[in-house]
Amino acid sequence: MSDAYRIVAIPGDGVGPEVVGAARRVVDAVAEAFGFAVAWSDVAAGGVAIDAHGVAIRPEDVERCRNADAVLLGAVGGPAWSDPSSSVRPEQALFALRGGLGLFANLRPVTVHPSLLGASPLRPELLDGVDLLIVRELTGGIYFGDRTEPAGEPGERSALDTMPYHEREVRRIVRLACDLARSRRGRVTQVDKANVLATSRLWRTVTDEVARDYPDVAVAHQLVDSCAMLLVRRPASFDVIVTENLFGDILSDEAAVLAGSLGMLPSASLGERRTAHGVFGLYEPIHGSAPDIAGQDRANPIGTILSAAMLLRMSLGREDAAAAIEAAVGRALDDGWRTMDLADAADAHDGLVVVGTTAMATAVIQRLAAPVGLAS
Ligand SMILES: NC(=O)c1ccc[n+]([C@@H]2O[C@H](COP(=O)([O-])OP(=O)(O)OC[C@H]3O[C@@H](n4cnc5c(N)ncnc54)[C@H](O)[C@@H]3O)[C@@H](O)[C@H]2O)c1
Repeated sequence: MSDAYRIVAIPGDGVGPEVVGAARRVVDAVAEAFGFAVAWSDVAAGGVAIDAHGVAIRPEDVERCRNADAVLLGAVGGPAWSDPSSSVRPEQALFALRGGLGLFANLRPVTVHPSLLGASPLRPELLDGVDLLIVRELTGGIYFGDRTEPAGEPGERSALDTMPYHEREVRRIVRLACDLARSRRGRVTQVDKANVLATSRLWRTVTDEVARDYPDVAVAHQLVDSCAMLLVRRPASFDVIVTENLFGDILSDEAAVLAGSLGMLPSASLGERRTAHGVFGLYEPIHGSAPDIAGQDRANPIGTILSAAMLLRMSLGREDAAAAIEAAVGRALDDGWRTMDLADAADAHDGLVVVGTTAMATAVIQRLAAPVGLAS
């Protein structure tokens, strides 16, 4: 297995082990079909790591992630570890991984599969052609700026958050957005609040400078409030959206609603480090640990399976296997296979096969086409 791709799996808490287990089966199946090998290793993070080691993730486990080609994560957190005043909390694992591995860009693609149009709260005609990518800055801005906690006498209390950005942080993510737009529809919308915020005006200036190097990409600026409105009124008008940490956090959750279920959407967090095969990254579904359905084989694994497809494409350079997984997911949905979340949101249940996590992964595996030339 010396030339195998090295992937660290972090199942985490709640439904994490179920959806990561499902995605691993799909990756192993596609690897066999396409003739390559994957060497998996497991890392504990989140509540399970607090129980086992007393910390959300051990430094040596962050190192194991750093030495891999990519990381596939489920979700962390749950009621057993939810005391906000505790000094050890599951989400510390996410900050340790993002910060420790230099993952400054979070990518969330949002597409709406035609057979799921009825599952979205938006009218189907608004969703026609939705294919957008949110590129969120992940390691700067107000989440990382200096802060002063609430203090003072009642009636006089105050608190302070600060939102620092350096042009280096803006430049690298706008460049990434423009590079990604080149393999899509060639349009980038940079979102800010430049009529109020100084950091937003820095973002605009640096974005315009970067845009000069990308004459083939149409770069536009948009205020975050109008962007939030257009995401539900004309979502198909967007291609790549690039924005700072706080705005990206909010807009990416808003955009996730378009797809009908939290369980459908993948994400990638990337840094600058390249591996022998692509760019190092951490891949995870956008949903949390869903403690209400954990351990019941009810979670939708598609967000994690599509995250694994992103991993194969971006970190391992296996566009062929990634595309095969995405096509197989599409076929399973076309054939009526639905997990509970999608069935609950559907207008009609005629022709639907409502299944659990394991059976949905099996349905995807059964629809993986053999690569051209190897088909029997
Ligand atoms: N990146 C992460 O690890 C991450 C992200 C968000 C929340 N969390 C943690 O997860 C825990 C639960 O958070 P929450 O309830 O706000 O969000 P959640 O995403 O876990 O769940 C919200 C709702 O969506 C449903 N849901 C989520 N994923 C699903 C799936 N794959 N299939 C079907 N239904 C699904 C859940 O059952 C629940 O009803 C908290 O401890 C939170 O801190 C972790």
